[in-house]
Amino acid sequence: MTRHFLRDDDLTQAEQTEILDLAEAIKADRWGRKPLEGPQTVAVIFDKSSTRTRVSFAVGIADLGGIPLIISTANSQLGGKESPSDTARVLERQVAAIVWRTYAQSGLEQMAQGTTVPVVNALSDDFHPCQLLADLLTIREHKGTLAGLTVTFLGDGASNMAHSYLLACATAGMHVRVAAPEEFSPVDAVVSDADARAAETGGSVTIFTDPNEAVAGADVVVTDTWVSMGKEDEKAHRVAVFGGYQVTPELMTLAKPDAIFLHCLPADRGYEVAAEVIDGPQSVIWDEAENRLHAQKALLTWLLEKSSR
Ligand code: CP
Ligand code: NVA
Repeated sequence: MTRHFLRDDDLTQAEQTEILDLAEAIKADRWGRKPLEGPQTVAVIFDKSSTRTRVSFAVGIADLGGIPLIISTANSQLGGKESPSDTARVLERQVAAIVWRTYAQSGLEQMAQGTTVPVVNALSDDFHPCQLLADLLTIREHKGTLAGLTVTFLGDGASNMAHSYLLACATAGMHVRVAAPEEFSPVDAVVSDADARAAETGGSVTIFTDPNEAVAGADVVVTDTWVSMGKEDEKAHRVAVFGGYQVTPELMTLAKPDAIFLHCLPADRGYEVAAEVIDGPQSVIWDEAENRLHAQKALLTWLLEKSSR
């Protein structure tokens, strides 16, 4: 059966752990596994800008013995004349997997329904599950464990990153908190899916409006841009509404003394995070950015193994 990775809870807790274990092994032996040797091609499609995702998939696919085919929708038929499912039917005859950064989650679902090769969400408006595999790998490296830790995400609770934090951390058995202004609360359906997953794993999900309460005693503090791609027109309003949610050195003192700080990048210093925090000793952002490579190599290896016909 073909396995896709469209949202964080497409993986069970055991499967998520399997991929993180594989990522750790792959990181320790960068050239050790070549499931794409042949070489096979992987299509990596972008409707939105990217630095980390583009580079880490391109390098990762090459490391695995394959060829990355980077496609911009600006000069392809997808998104204009051709549907995701027709595109998928064309690509599956030629590539081993399809990785797609897009707007609507429904497009990814159509792509996955229309194809026999794995489809990977490289960020949609709703979720950024590949980022969360890298973030969980980073947290595990620095904290030695995931289950039982408290992680607080601050800022745009209705964003792809907040939603992925809810689903991925609940899957990992963590206590996940989101602090957001009411207007930007996480989508109810995502919160209830995360709640259901947390009930299975021993984790928990709590939504706050007060950033101080949300950060109190946290092991991990996370934020993301207040102005996600596609929301640029709302910048002035967002900066006004999110003003009280900046991760400052003062806010970090409320977390555990050994708390770490994560940010998927790119960052706006002085907006969602103070420079002293993101460039300070608690920040693990460069490990996090590097771990995109190892986590995605593990993900592709795992998906191809599970989907082999
Ligand atoms: N974190 C992340 O996905 O970065 P890019 O937008 O540069 O890919
Ligand atoms: N929430 C951000 C993440 C960027 C990697 C966005 O969607 O722009």
